[in-house]
Amino acid sequence: MRMSCTVRRFAPALLGAMLLPGATPAQVRHQVTSPDGRNEVTVGIREGTLYYSVQRDGRPVLLPSGLGFEFRGAPPLRDGLRIADAARQTVDETWTQPWGEVAQVRDHHHELGVNVEETASTGRHFTLVVRAFDDGVAFRYEVPEQAGLGAYEITEELTEFVMADNARAWWIPANRPQRYEYLYSASPVAMLDTVHTPLTMETTTGLHVVIHEANLVDYAAMNLLGSDAAVQSISANQDARRLRAWLAPWADGVKVRGRTPFVTPWRTIQLADRAADLAPSVLGLKLNPPSVLERTDWIEPGKYVGIWWGMHINTMTWSSGPKHGATTENTKRYIDFAAANGFGGVLVEGWNVGWDGDWIRNAEQFSFTEPYPDYDLQELAAYARERGVRLIGHNETSMGVENYERQLEDAFALYQSLGINAVKTGYVGDLTRDGHAHHGQYMVRHWRKVIETAARHRLMLDVHEPIKDTGERRTYPNMMTREGARGQEYNAWGRDGGNPPEYETILFFTRMLAGPLDFTPGVFDIQIASTAGTPRPPEVPRVRTTLAKQLALYVVLYSPMHMAADLPENYEGQPAFQFIRDVPVDWEDTKVLDGKIGDYVVVARRERGGQDWYVGAITDEEARDIEIPLSFLASGTHYVAEIYADGPGADWRDNPLPVAISQRAVDAESRLMLTLAAGGGQAIRIRPVP
Ligand code: NOJ
Repeated sequence: MRMSCTVRRFAPALLGAMLLPGATPAQVRHQVTSPDGRNEVTVGIREGTLYYSVQRDGRPVLLPSGLGFEFRGAPPLRDGLRIADAARQTVDETWTQPWGEVAQVRDHHHELGVNVEETASTGRHFTLVVRAFDDGVAFRYEVPEQAGLGAYEITEELTEFVMADNARAWWIPANRPQRYEYLYSASPVAMLDTVHTPLTMETTTGLHVVIHEANLVDYAAMNLLGSDAAVQSISANQDARRLRAWLAPWADGVKVRGRTPFVTPWRTIQLADRAADLAPSVLGLKLNPPSVLERTDWIEPGKYVGIWWGMHINTMTWSSGPKHGATTENTKRYIDFAAANGFGGVLVEGWNVGWDGDWIRNAEQFSFTEPYPDYDLQELAAYARERGVRLIGHNETSMGVENYERQLEDAFALYQSLGINAVKTGYVGDLTRDGHAHHGQYMVRHWRKVIETAARHRLMLDVHEPIKDTGERRTYPNMMTREGARGQEYNAWGRDGGNPPEYETILFFTRMLAGPLDFTPGVFDIQIASTAGTPRPPEVPRVRTTLAKQLALYVVLYSPMHMAADLPENYEGQPAFQFIRDVPVDWEDTKVLDGKIGDYVVVARRERGGQDWYVGAITDEEARDIEIPLSFLASGTHYVAEIYADGPGADWRDNPLPVAISQRAVDAESRLMLTLAAGGGQAIRIRPVP
């Protein structure tokens, strides 16, 4: 629902354009400032090339940084440029998200459109559109249809981000086999190699800067390329702090192909004074088109359980055989468990033919409509429906996207006919069969096709091994959640030893700024004792948190579809399971109460359409006490806080299970002291007293 909309357009009278003393018109530069006056972008020409720079409170954040394109078979669009004219507008509108970490999003920005053209006879031209918001700035290229630029093949986008400060960056490497599934490192920006976005940085003066992109449609995903080793070794000078856009390629090395007109994704630079002010991050939503779905009442955020963790800890298999997880009988057990505990969905992996043998190599053998003989799809869909539960479909493609696309329509029509309303997809693998990059334009097109087909068949999507989130959920609110991180499963197989206790305190300020994460929390058998009968020690693959921290992750890591990942039997007789039953996945409001990247974070969220608040606090390997004021509660209302804290002696290494459950009367004047164990956390439900 659009609540208000004000668009003021100014004639291209170059409002705000500045002619430098002694400058020729070709040196004109233009500036646009955020509504609060703090963030400013300058666009200008220097020696025939176009640049932009970013300032906050008058201090440089990004130094003059280059713009342009290189093409196959055509000269670069970079040199001999001039600014023809510029136009401005202001937008101030607020809308209600169908679901999310906040209900209302206000998009208030000033926009500058700079029309740029080549002085040479080729006369190619484009517009650089810049938007300045209070929470950051963004720009994109808009390239119209024109005689000198029809069909094109971009071999490099020449966008640069030259950091003014040798800021500390939290990064994961790009162009590596495991996609986004890496542990974060922290190092000065001058030392970066090729990294993924969102790239979160903290400058030496404490400013937080996040480079990412929004509205990735029919283009290639952007990684950031740091300076080369030779420059790094000279010193942390300006060249060493120059990050360059690096687009994921087609098999033939071309980055983006098409025909004008086209627009690039928005290049976004989120800015915040404190880490805690980075979230909830809605900059990307503001830069995506509004929903194209006429009705969204069929989209139901919710929690789910599933036949999943058993495969990762090896008690079940995806493939057929004696340990096959997706049997009719086993699935009924999960459906009964879901119905008894208020979970809306049951994910079943390994239900379809194709898992036998090496499923990562045999992508072409997957059927997305044919179940294994011991899985009665029709009967189970009905069994679930009768109990108010829906099956969640599972489509692992192993990057065999052609095989998937051939079956997509039939598969989604089948699921819809059975009352299935969500599908988890998977893209294990780095390249398509034809060698196109996992996040390249070819795959971006594929994603859109899947999202659109799913929307037509009223299916919500949960994507694993996804392309990073660039705000698609605003346009297609059925694009619910995705992985794109080292999820819980790494704690089962322990590649590189699983996820360390600090991991989620970094995720919150990096990956989570892009959008929802299907992390699959809620493992109660922390030491995975159910497989071998003895608890696993901290050095081997197992969950590296306390049990209370598993609860807190439901609040801290936002997802409109959250899984209770453990085996149903591991929740039996566990009073702490009540928190997972209670916690919502759709929020009216979100407040980050405190946090430091890599150390701890405390988040409070109010349930959508209700008065209950939930607080999640997590810490790294350090135990800590954090005092929080409850001033976010409605004043004058009496509440009871249901507290799930690390119990006496809890410690992620040797004693992860104790949870102390208590209740306390609180109100807006109260302060709570949260005592977190090493690798621990705390989860609190605060509900008004009737
Ligand atoms: C990797 C996914 O992240 C995981 O959730 C899934 O179980 C396997 N692929 C199989 O599809």
